[in-house]
Amino acid sequence: TDIRIGADLIRRRKGGTPIVCLTAYTYPIARLLDPHVDLLLVGDSVAMVLHGHETTLGASLEMMIAHGQAVMRGSAKACVVVDMPAGTYEDSAAQAVASARRIVGECGCQAVKLEGGVDMAAQIAAIVAADIPVMGHIGLQPQSVEKDGGYKIKGRTDENVAALIADASAVEKAGAFSLVIEGTIEKVAADITRRIAIPTIGIGASGECDGQILVIDDMVGLTVDRVPKFVKQYADLRSVIQHAAERYASEVRDRDFPGPTHVFSRTNGGDES
Ligand code: KIV
Ligand code: NA
Repeated sequence: TDIRIGADLIRRRKGGTPIVCLTAYTYPIARLLDPHVDLLLVGDSVAMVLHGHETTLGASLEMMIAHGQAVMRGSAKACVVVDMPAGTYEDSAAQAVASARRIVGECGCQAVKLEGGVDMAAQIAAIVAADIPVMGHIGLQPQSVEKDGGYKIKGRTDENVAALIADASAVEKAGAFSLVIEGTIEKVAADITRRIAIPTIGIGASGECDGQILVIDDMVGLTVDRVPKFVKQYADLRSVIQHAAERYASEVRDRDFPGPTHVFSRTNGGDES
């Protein structure tokens, strides 16, 4: 396998240094994040975060590939994982392999991620058999949010817990190299992390996981719609951009911009812009 996904990533777990992951959808953000993270996920959250869709069901294979290519151009060392969008893998193992091959073939990314546990084990096994590393994703599965009737935390009932543990084991047995656990109670994330040998990556699933991931726009305070409770905001880019836009607008209206240093004449500077 690719060195970006090899032993180095898998080894850091069970009391070791946690695995640092963030989503990325664009070239500049990939450039900025790559030095600081172990893994960049081109999440299908891109459909909501950058394209303004209501849910992740708005993502298409073409959308994921375009963003995957952009992130690969900006990434030098992080393991880049691209989400398989809804409707491109659920029907059969053959459909899943064909879609995964297209994503990896056109992006050159290190792995794909798909949502599901016991129900998607055949798809995961088939993609892995085709030599494409797979990251699993269980717990709160945003592609099922319409079916589930909202973004609901998992693991609060015994029935729920048994199903989650079965899902985690199925993903591991199918050959996934790691597992995202989203939106579960802390105890369930801890139990799963203890039971399976592959690293767990948590989002809204506590510090008991082997690594953490957040949506980049949520993390830097750029998200304009609802931000989930579990997010910590490390910057406030919304107000940075709002203030920049306000100042630019008033300077243009007042003819303060462009100023002398932004203007060309016969005598200043060279030919380049
Ligand atoms: O699409 C996404 O951003 C994700 C992560 C948050 C795990 O699947
Ligand atoms: Na996703």
